[in-house]
Amino acid sequence: MTTFYAHRGASTMCPENTMAAFRQALREKADGIEVDVQLSKDGEAVVIHDETVDRTTNGTGAVKDMTVLELKQLDAGSWYNQACAGETLPLLEEVLKWIGRTELKLNIELKTDREPYPGIEQVVIDAVRRHELADRVVLSSFNLETLRRVRDISSSVSIAVLVWDNIDGIVKCARHLGADAIHARPGFMHTAESLRAEAAGLPIRLYTVNEPEDLKGISLQFVDGVFTDSPARLRGKLGVG
Ligand code: G3P
Ligand code: CA
Repeated sequence: MTTFYAHRGASTMCPENTMAAFRQALREKADGIEVDVQLSKDGEAVVIHDETVDRTTNGTGAVKDMTVLELKQLDAGSWYNQACAGETLPLLEEVLKWIGRTELKLNIELKTDREPYPGIEQVVIDAVRRHELADRVVLSSFNLETLRRVRDISSSVSIAVLVWDNIDGIVKCARHLGADAIHARPGFMHTAESLRAEAAGLPIRLYTVNEPEDLKGISLQFVDGVFTDSPARLRGKLGVG
């Protein structure tokens, strides 16, 4: 059965990476949510996709230069829709607390491909452990060094290698890291079937799939998970209950 992750929450219906988007994902019967984390000036894991707050809040500046107090004063909803004004940037802590009250899975993407955020791996793993959610969480990153540090800290937490374009060589790399899955884009894969054979059982999850055509002809039966901005809509279009 393919796992449907709401990408940045149900981000078609609500402002991405906000509690409103996560609650909407639950209403849409997603199996899990995907969130992006960056580190604040005072070392807290904050849920936001970009390195700056400019696109998704009413503020400006880099996340790494702002404290939690400053970040929490920003409006993370009005850029999307005035009806969503008042949404704030969630801390990873808040999301984990909420996830604990649901049965959702959680994919935390560590956004270290542009900012190194020293120590982010420990911060995230500590938080996941505090909430006893390791069995429902997968940590992913485009940055292989980040994944290596995660694996050094914890031999048991699930990790996934994120691939932007060419998947050639990635299975070997994932195996070397002790990764548990590969998160790839359909257009850059040979076929899920051939990769799966090559991966010898390593799960493959595809991003971002909003329309059936986004699967590029890959059958869902070969895919362990998809990341979508619209879980209910995609399920409907694919005829998956
Ligand atoms: O984890 C899959 C996907 O979220 C990676 O790309 O830019 O949407 O974070 P992006
Ligand atoms: Ca992401």
